[in-house]
Amino acid sequence: MLIGVTGGIAAYKVCNLIRELVKFGAEVKVIMTEAATRFITPLTLSTLSKNPVYTDKDFWNADGCKDSKNPTIHISLAEWADVILIAPASANTIAKLACGMCDNLLTAVALAARCPVAVAPTMDVGMYLNESTQVNLVNLKEMGYFVIQPAEGELASGITGIGRLPEISVIVEALKNILLGITRDLVRRKILVTAGPTYESIDAVRFIGNRSSGKMGFAIANAAVQRGAEVLLVTGPSNLRTPNNVNRINVESTLDMFKAVKVNYKKADVLIMAAAVADFRPEKIEFDKIKKENKNMLELKLVPTVDILFEMGKLKKRKKIHVGFALETNEDIQEAKRKLREKKLDFIVFNSFSKENNVFGSDFNEVTIIDSKGNIEKLPRMPKFDVANKVLDKIVSIL
Ligand SMILES: Cc1cc2nc3c(=O)[nH]c(=O)nc-3n(C[C@H](O)[C@H](O)[C@H](O)COP(=O)(O)O)c2cc1C
Repeated sequence: MLIGVTGGIAAYKVCNLIRELVKFGAEVKVIMTEAATRFITPLTLSTLSKNPVYTDKDFWNADGCKDSKNPTIHISLAEWADVILIAPASANTIAKLACGMCDNLLTAVALAARCPVAVAPTMDVGMYLNESTQVNLVNLKEMGYFVIQPAEGELASGITGIGRLPEISVIVEALKNILLGITRDLVRRKILVTAGPTYESIDAVRFIGNRSSGKMGFAIANAAVQRGAEVLLVTGPSNLRTPNNVNRINVESTLDMFKAVKVNYKKADVLIMAAAVADFRPEKIEFDKIKKENKNMLELKLVPTVDILFEMGKLKKRKKIHVGFALETNEDIQEAKRKLREKKLDFIVFNSFSKENNVFGSDFNEVTIIDSKGNIEKLPRMPKFDVANKVLDKIVSIL
C-alpha cells in the first residue's frame, strides 16, 4: 500500500493512519512531497511504516533511489502498489492530478498507477468549496480516482466547516472497500442508458431540439462502467466524449432512440432513461429546405412522438429495473408520481427546473428520487457524477 503525503496541516494525522495500517499487516511505503516534509519528517514516517520514505530527491537521483539502483522509481512504485492513498491530499496536488501534471515523484507515480488511486482532500473550507477544487474533484472521479469525502468540524484555522481529514477508521474502511472490490458492485450487470436531446427534423436542414447536453446520462454511463457494469449508451446528438469502455449508439430522433432501446433491451438488466426526448415532432418532414420567400408566417403541425418510457413500460420484464428522469418547471411531484406509475418505473429521478437549478449544460444537479414504494429522497445540489452514483446506489439496493 502506497501512501502519498502532501503539504497539508493534517499531515501529522497520517502517522496514526500508517501505524494502524501496519498493525493490520499491510506493507506500507510512503512518498512525501517537498511541502509535506515541512510539516512532518520522513524519519517519523519511515520509522512508523518500517520502510524508507521516498521524496523528490529519489525522483531526480541519476544513481537510483535509496533502496535500489533504479532511476525510474516512479514506475517501480506505480507497479508495486496494490492501492495508492493520497492523504492528506492538498488542493495543489488535486489540481495537478486533475490535469495530468507529474512534476514530482508523487504525481508521477499517480499518473503511472496500475492500481486504484484514492485521494482524501483536506484543507480549509474555502479552499475545498472553491469552484476550482470542486471541478478538479469531479474530474478526478470521472477519471476513476476514488475521493474520500472530508469530514466537517473545527479546522486548523479555528473556522468550522468541511475539510478535515476523516477519522482513521473511515479511511481504513474506504481502503478495504476499494481493495475488496466492493466499489465494483455492478460487475456482470448490463445497463442500457439513454442520454442527450433528440432532434426532430422540420426539413432537410432544420430541426426541433432542446437544451439537454447529455451530461447526466453520460455521467451515469461513466459511473456505472467504473462500478463494473457493461454499459450501452444510446445518445441523441451530443459533443461529449464517450467515457472509457462504454459502448455508444448515436441516434437523432425520438423514434430512432426508441428503436435502438427496443433492439438492445433484451440484453439489459437495467434501463435508465435519462435522455430529454422530444414530445412532439413535425407531422411532415419537407424533403428540401423550406424557402423563406413570400412567407409572412410558417405553420408547423406537430404530432406526438413515441413515448419511450411508456412503451418500454409495456414491454417490461419482471426482473428488469426501469429508471426514468422527469423534468418539470415547477415542484410538481404529483406529476412525477403519475409518470412513475403509468410508465411502470421502479423509480423516477425528478429534476425541478428553476433559475437556481438550471440543469441544462451544468455539471451540477439537484434531484429528488421517488420510488414505486412511495419513498421520497430529496438530495442536495451536487455534481452530476455524484447524482449518477446515488442513482446507481438505489439500483444496487433493488437488484
Ligand atoms: C501552515 C500551512 C498549512 C497548510 N495547510 C494546507 C492544507 O491543509 N491543505 C492544502 O490543500 N494546502 C495547505 N497548505 C498549502 C500547501 O502546503 C501548498 O499549496 C503546497 O504548495 C502544497 O504542495 P504539495 O501539493 O506538493 O504538497 C498549507 C500551507 C501552510 C503554510
